[in-house]
Amino acid sequence: MELNKGLIAPSLLSADFSCLFKDIADVEPLADLWHVDVMDGHFVPNITIGPFIVKAINKITDVPLDVHLMIENPNRYANAFLDAGARFLTAHIEAFSSQDEVKEFISIVKSKGAKAGLSIKPATEVAELMPFLSDLDMILVMSVEPGFGGQEFMPVAVEKIREIRKVFEGMISVDGGINAESARLTAKAGVDILVAGSFIFRAEDRVKAIKSLRSAFEII
Ligand code: DX5
Ligand code: ZN
Repeated sequence: MELNKGLIAPSLLSADFSCLFKDIADVEPLADLWHVDVMDGHFVPNITIGPFIVKAINKITDVPLDVHLMIENPNRYANAFLDAGARFLTAHIEAFSSQDEVKEFISIVKSKGAKAGLSIKPATEVAELMPFLSDLDMILVMSVEPGFGGQEFMPVAVEKIREIRKVFEGMISVDGGINAESARLTAKAGVDILVAGSFIFRAEDRVKAIKSLRSAFEII
């Protein structure tokens, strides 16, 4: 698939895991990427899934996996997620203890032919990303505190996206509290990928929900 801009990445965290296959089949025709949230109970208070489940998800879909690592020590696990099928692999800048570690992460991801991303929490300055801009394929701006779906969008993300857009030519993604309105605000600020969990999976009409996100890219 061509990874051009204006993509929708439904977040599987809000899918019903007791019938994941059905939820995936339901939304797949309108999804550009599957956003998969990996949480370790240390970097964030919640625990979700590991490489074993990522591999199982990859087996039942043709849509590329955009894996968001909310874990400590990302370099220890990067290969396991890449081998499980991650086509985008993003770790949090706050999870690394040195710039060398960040560079190592990016080179592990790229050596497997995947796209490398870094994410920032709402309180982290955009400046932290500067040393890595030329090596990165994607920046994931968190618009909620990472850890749980269904939280309210934090407007601080809009200014960050604008700031990043001025200096970064790769993909910018936004994650947390995305609905039709926050989609419009962030698309206008220059975002390329909208990650949305509850807005899509809890919608009465999922097709309509995704179309309303997509239209955010059309009216800018
Ligand atoms: C939160 C996760 C998000 C989450 C978004 O830590 O990174 O991907 O699924 O869910 P919503 O769209 O419901 O805010
Ligand atoms: Zn996420």
